[in-house]
Amino acid sequence: MTKHFPGDHFQRIDHKLHLGGADLSELARRFGTPLFVYDFGRVRSLASQITKELRGVSHGSRAFFAVKALGNLSALQVIHQQGLGMDVVSGGEIQRCLAAGIPASDIIFSGVAKSRSEIEMGIQAGIACFNIESPHEIDLLAEISGNRRQNVKIALRVNPDVDGKTHKKINTGPADTKFGLSPELAKSICKRVLETRYLSLEGLSCHIGSQILDLSSFSNAANEMRDFARELMILGARFHHIDMGGGVGVAYRPSEWEQVPTFSQWVTISKKALPSNDVDLYLEPGRSIVGDSAVLLTQVLDIKTGATKKFALTDAGMTELIRPAMYDAYHHIEPLWFKDSDSGDQYDVVGPVCETSCSLGYDMRLGSLKIGDILAVFTAGAYGMSMASNYNSRTRPPEVAIDRGSIRQIKKREEIPALWSDEIGFLER
Ligand code: LLP
Repeated sequence: MTKHFPGDHFQRIDHKLHLGGADLSELARRFGTPLFVYDFGRVRSLASQITKELRGVSHGSRAFFAVKALGNLSALQVIHQQGLGMDVVSGGEIQRCLAAGIPASDIIFSGVAKSRSEIEMGIQAGIACFNIESPHEIDLLAEISGNRRQNVKIALRVNPDVDGKTHKKINTGPADTKFGLSPELAKSICKRVLETRYLSLEGLSCHIGSQILDLSSFSNAANEMRDFARELMILGARFHHIDMGGGVGVAYRPSEWEQVPTFSQWVTISKKALPSNDVDLYLEPGRSIVGDSAVLLTQVLDIKTGATKKFALTDAGMTELIRPAMYDAYHHIEPLWFKDSDSGDQYDVVGPVCETSCSLGYDMRLGSLKIGDILAVFTAGAYGMSMASNYNSRTRPPEVAIDRGSIRQIKKREEIPALWSDEIGFLER
């Protein structure tokens, strides 16, 4: 038995890959492929770690899980049980949390463009805080809260102009991205909010990007936010919290293992953003709570030797895991049955969707592969299922969780007729 990437929750026993003590080959047989398998033990442990770190800052300091990373109701319940609130970015995510039984008072609403109906939904439900990104949002909030004579808590999401030093498509800290308010705009909005009857300015927020491994980015953001909070305090603002967003990365490659920031490091750096010690720290982790808890299991449907490359054609592709196609992201891949000594050929692992970009990985050493073998695509817990699509009329896969020794199916495989069940017939039949 040897230790395994990306952590102790994975093991190889007699060359067979296990997650959370369960033999993944058996799960693939029982539930079919493609299949997402999560270790909820790993999720619980990370969620309770971040809660513990934040409790060390102050009683009111708290993490809010970024629901966009993994929306499954069972996952949200497990994460909420460990003391996290939820960070949502749409009306759909508000309702998803309420459906999971999460109280509205544990929900904060981020998001770059909120519609009137989403804002109404949040106010009606009584969510904890709106992270505001534009003057128009303030107009809507002032109007709706005024009409209802209901107090609404808000934080201003500031763009701190800090480089997250991550992939361009998930870097949200620089000034030339669509996210947040410039400091000038935030200042003018702040004055207005302080004079608005039913709006209460509770905090400042920011989020500089995702899959960040370089702690200096968090440190720069914390310094900017603290200085800016103090500037606004001179204008009369009194903050209850500073929300430093999410962004801590996970290991997609064994070589990144050592670079992953610990929650203790992240919290220690982020608390520098607090302008005084009576202010609470909020964080919005997504990937770092669920990313390395899961694998995507996929079967090799075919093997083909091209003019220059060998291809393993799998039953999962960009519809199940879009990250390689969208961000050229690397995900470590291994067959479920594998001997380290077995170096074999190199394969491009490519999916069934009719797009050149539909791949799971390039030049992967997968031993001596055969048709029918099952591959595990690692670090698939965040932005995997939540970004899955029905392109090419493919059904989205089921999800299974290993939880305290038992195996629970937490989502069924979508049925093919569901793909058109909400379409309206053009011709009478
Ligand atoms: N808070 C806000 C306001 C966010 O926009 C995000 C992520 C988070 C928190 C959580 O960030 P995390 O801790 O997960 O890094 N689909 C991309 C990632 C997009 C992240 C979007 N915002 C990917 O697969 O890499």
